[in-house]
Amino acid sequence: MSTNDSTHPLACSVNGRAVRLRPDPRESLLDVLRERLALTGTKKGCDQGHCGACTVHVDGRRVLSCLTPAVQVDGQAVTTIEGVTGDDGGLHPLQQAFIDNDALQCGYCTPGQIMSGIACIAEGHTRTDDEIREYLSGNICRCGAYVGIVAAVRQTVDGS
Ligand code: FES
Ligand code: FES
Repeated sequence: MSTNDSTHPLACSVNGRAVRLRPDPRESLLDVLRERLALTGTKKGCDQGHCGACTVHVDGRRVLSCLTPAVQVDGQAVTTIEGVTGDDGGLHPLQQAFIDNDALQCGYCTPGQIMSGIACIAEGHTRTDDEIREYLSGNICRCGAYVGIVAAVRQTVDGS
């Protein structure tokens, strides 16, 4: 790992594990997760803030990790798709609901959809299917699995 003058200290937690690194200040959270921590569940789609594939949670709020400098999450708690399973390793209810509702085809957008969906539920933006659609509108699915995605969120809300 480089420790030259252009790097910056970063201390945070990722999926409950303490992480200390010295990323370049220009390095995105997405690249740190994927390239340094091997957490490749978070996907790189556009790398420009347009698709939502890179969505993770920082202190419980969803963020686009491609637009977030890694050093910005210093002192905060990052959760990725690898961190949403229960203590027993079982699927998160929304992950199970994606399976139940055929809410994916190629699966590339799915981690981001699930991270946004979990946040959408926690934020309470689930009163109607239109509201779910609106609050998931930043997550693009090129396979067009939107009907199943909304149904999966609805199933999770109604079952909780
Ligand atoms: Fe971040 Fe597309 S990869 S929004
Ligand atoms: Fe293929 Fe969404 S399942 S992009």
